[in-house]
Amino acid sequence: MKKILVTGGAGYIGSHTIVELIAAGYTPVIVDNLCNTSTQNIDGIEKIIDTKVKWHNVDCTDKDAMDKVFTEHGKIEGIIHFAAYKAVEESVQNPQKYYDNNMGSLEVVLKCMQENDVKNIIFSSSCTVYGMPDVLPVDENAPFKKAESPYGETKQICEEMLKADTCNSVALRYFNPIGSHPSALIGDCSADRPSNLVPIITEVAIGKRKKITVFGDDYNTPDGTCVRDYIHVVDLAKSHVLAMDFLIRTPGQHAFNVGTGIGVSVLDALKAFEETNNLKINYSIGPRRSGDIEQIYANGNLVKTKLGWEPIESLEQAMKSAWDWEKQK
Ligand code: NAD
Ligand code: WQD
Repeated sequence: MKKILVTGGAGYIGSHTIVELIAAGYTPVIVDNLCNTSTQNIDGIEKIIDTKVKWHNVDCTDKDAMDKVFTEHGKIEGIIHFAAYKAVEESVQNPQKYYDNNMGSLEVVLKCMQENDVKNIIFSSSCTVYGMPDVLPVDENAPFKKAESPYGETKQICEEMLKADTCNSVALRYFNPIGSHPSALIGDCSADRPSNLVPIITEVAIGKRKKITVFGDDYNTPDGTCVRDYIHVVDLAKSHVLAMDFLIRTPGQHAFNVGTGIGVSVLDALKAFEETNNLKINYSIGPRRSGDIEQIYANGNLVKTKLGWEPIESLEQAMKSAWDWEKQK
């Protein structure tokens, strides 16, 4: 059984990926310092897979602690590196915190890989590397525009760090992950107030907020609201397993978009949530949010051809699971 070290494996996307890795026959080992999650996700993973999962409460920027993890586990086939901060607004207030953690953790991971002869890494990148693309749907050859935030900058720089390294890498450029595992046992456990669309919708639905503001309805899009590519987190998790299979048999440096290819407006998303869950969401139209791009959705040809990955879950399934998670978290 191939051992995979998963940094940030107790987080939102990481926990879903752990479940899929185990289902595919890999043996994951989690490294997470719980700075943006809780042991609720570890417990949830163990309930879903009905067995214990190996994990270390370690900060990936701590080289000595990471050395110990690598030494303890002997042969490691590959790394999936999720560990990073992800709050876009906070990164504008405190860029250094983002540079230190996001680049710092990758730097330590790459050093450990070199010293322990580990060749393969999957990196959590983001469609934010493209900024506002000139051509839609955006493909992997689109240039990196000036980043919208220090957070976006860290993703661009980390991709450059991978290119400058000798390891085999896949950068997965996620579009907008939403939803949760159908068991509702794992999900986004961030302590902060959410700033992403779907968690805000679920907070309105449960009564934690009075309403949601739609940021602008005067964009050059079919209904005037911004368009995104919302991808079910379970589908996204599966792409990591396929990416690891692919990298083991196809050494080199690769980057893939992971999105559905379907552009969904803010009003479409609200409607899908309301109709799926038979609920009304109180919303109003407000001004544009600074830094928002008008529209982005993925060209998914490459990931389909090379990894054999395609989304399976619908927007409605994602909205149902997002609501199920909110109700029990
Ligand atoms: P998350 O915050 O739920 O998961 C990140 C995990 O990493 C958390 O469990 C956190 O405790 C851990 N972590 C952070 N810094 C660490 C460190 N120095 N040492 C050890 N553990 C550390 O976020 P997520 O949504 O699961 O995102 C996972 C990755 O995907 C991140 O790199 C993020 O930037 C990227 N990404 C997320 C989205 C999104 O919308 N959620 C979109 C594109 C890319
Ligand atoms: C989606 C749409 C908002 C909240 C961010 C990061 C990106 C990536 C994913 C990590 C936008 C609108 C939102 C609200 C609204 N993360 N909205 N009212 O901005 O596409 O991307 O998360 O890499 O880097 O920037 O996602 O969920 O914040 O917004 O109208 O209260 O919902 O304007 O059009 P975004 P989001």
